[in-house]
Amino acid sequence: MPLVTTTEMFKKAYDGGYAVGAFNVNNMEIVQGITEAAREQHAPLILQVSKGARAYANHTYLVKLVEAAVIECPDIPIALHLDHGPDFETCKSCIDGGFTSVMIDASSKPFAENIEITRKVVEYAHDHGVVVEAELGSLAGVEDEVNVSAEDSSYTRPEEVEEFVQKTGCDSLAIAIGTSHGAYKFTAAQCTRNEQGVLVPPPLRFDILEEVSRRLPGFPIVLHGSSSVPQEFVKMINENGGKMPDAVGIPEEQLRKAATLSVCKINIDSDLRLAMTGSIRKYFADHPDHFDPRQYLTPARANIKAIVTHKLIDVLGCAGKA
Ligand code: G3H
Ligand code: 13P
Ligand code: ZN
Repeated sequence: MPLVTTTEMFKKAYDGGYAVGAFNVNNMEIVQGITEAAREQHAPLILQVSKGARAYANHTYLVKLVEAAVIECPDIPIALHLDHGPDFETCKSCIDGGFTSVMIDASSKPFAENIEITRKVVEYAHDHGVVVEAELGSLAGVEDEVNVSAEDSSYTRPEEVEEFVQKTGCDSLAIAIGTSHGAYKFTAAQCTRNEQGVLVPPPLRFDILEEVSRRLPGFPIVLHGSSSVPQEFVKMINENGGKMPDAVGIPEEQLRKAATLSVCKINIDSDLRLAMTGSIRKYFADHPDHFDPRQYLTPARANIKAIVTHKLIDVLGCAGKA
């Protein structure tokens, strides 16, 4: 089937109590690792591209890689989404250039300005059969070149969501309930430590999610910054020349719970980066004389596939739902 929008995916996910995984893609091996997992698990899939990915790999290369994946995976629905669209022009370029979904992220702007920018993107997108994700509230962490400190992040205010969705006409809404971008989601000071000395992050604000869902019944909610930062890959990195002390993510059982509620899309990027980097570091430590990229990218791609398979089955609950 051709690329799809997220409309049908989200309706089925909302009704079925699961979430669709949205994974960031930057090169061929990442696209292949993710899509092989989704094809095998018969899972609906969102492949997303950030401004940084477009700058790195080029819009056309990324679209063509995703189109190749669509040909290789004829039995699963795949959406191509712009992640954190910074302005109208970037959204327009993706809408004109083959994407089926865009995010306009004006969450750092004042409420009225966020509405105005989002509304403009929605009008253009809907005229072209493309759906729009918007954001209210802001997450801590690093996305593209923007680094939002924990102090500057802010939870979504549930009392604003109805007006925002009604005035913008957006199709899904990303909210801030305590997730955060990157591999260092929380400082040690924000966490407690368990008996093994492992950092335990503060729990997500399910009270905010539940109040948002009560005010927007049936409306798909999105969680960004939802990597779990698997300690096996942090260890693999640190044991093979890397230095990532105290990297910490969102516990998977909390994401599982969110997926059973109104959260229909969960964004995962950092976990794939960790899997890829750990695999490559280990490969070089084990084979210091090798220099063929096909050799060191093979285990990297396999570990991306393995982590995505685990997410689809155990975290998102979307395996078998294509
Ligand atoms: O939220 C941001 C995503 O992880 C994409 O990261 O902007 O470095 O491509 P990036
Ligand atoms: P992570 O950094 O937690 O993987 O979040 C990715 C994300 O939200 C992409 O938009
Ligand atoms: Zn994000």
